[in-house]
Amino acid sequence: MFPARRMRRLRAHPRVRDLVAEASWSPRDLVQPLFVDASLQAPREVASMPGVFRFPVDRVAKEATHLEDLGLPAVLLFGVPAERDATGSGAWDPDGVVQRAVRAVKEVTDLAVLTDLCLCQYTDHGHCGLLRGEALDNDGTVEAYGRVAVSQAKAGADVVAPSGMMDGQVAEIRKALDEAGFPELPLLSYAVKYASAFYGPFRDAADSAPSFGDRRSHQMDPATARQALLEAETDLQEGADVLMVKPGLPYLDVLRTLRDRFAVPLAAYQVSGEYAMIKAAALKGWLDEGAAVDESLTALRRAGADFLVTYFAKDAARRRRGGG
Ligand code: PBG
Repeated sequence: MFPARRMRRLRAHPRVRDLVAEASWSPRDLVQPLFVDASLQAPREVASMPGVFRFPVDRVAKEATHLEDLGLPAVLLFGVPAERDATGSGAWDPDGVVQRAVRAVKEVTDLAVLTDLCLCQYTDHGHCGLLRGEALDNDGTVEAYGRVAVSQAKAGADVVAPSGMMDGQVAEIRKALDEAGFPELPLLSYAVKYASAFYGPFRDAADSAPSFGDRRSHQMDPATARQALLEAETDLQEGADVLMVKPGLPYLDVLRTLRDRFAVPLAAYQVSGEYAMIKAAALKGWLDEGAAVDESLTALRRAGADFLVTYFAKDAARRRRGGG
């Protein structure tokens, strides 16, 4: 082909490069996860996630206001309760930490408030559901998820996001919401969630590490991709409105496959370990944080995500605003 084809022609002028770009992101595509901790008096930084804080309930609204001012459209709330029990009952307490946080954020912003729906922060054993012996009781757990969904809806959540990877959870949650008078509340399903080492820092942020065992009996095996199609198809049949792939960068192939097969909106979750890797290297001066974040967000969009959940949302929006 050479010299007729010279790929470098379109790479010389930065504006021409932009014209032929196939993917981009803007703050409107980003969702900021927020940790709300019922036991705190002041924000506390997460040791393994520099720049990420747990907020007291009465401080989260102020943070949300900053995020809204930066042009971000949405937050994803995670609760860290003061007390835990065997069934995770704090997760459906009408005055629970997330329920209070939802009300606080809705009161002062127009942000879309998404709520993570799982029991792992609420159980004293740190597992995502009810146990029978040392095993998860799948069907009992999804019933509990239904109760959590309804309580989050009553608190004012705009989107409920189940992340527990129990079979049948989307159907059960949809049914519970419909029966409670919330037939129009959308479900964002963490449909394709892998059992990942990259969740390590999150468990530090939410004190949600399992006290024994791991999550491999319900989260997906990183060595499978075809199962993602079955997970996605099942959740759509059960009533999911948006599908999410998690983690992000290690699973771009899966994201692309879903994009090519399904017409529903897709989200990608750039998880805590992905944040920590970039942050740690940047703090050591080993890579340019802004450029690495920009590139990773662009890659997730290029692979097919409509929107991105990322701990970098605030920073990224701030950099865009500054023209950087
Ligand atoms: C709750 C949940 C987890 C994450 C999101 N929702 C933890 C887990 O599955 O262990 C991980 C998020 C992250 O690592 O950023 N089940």
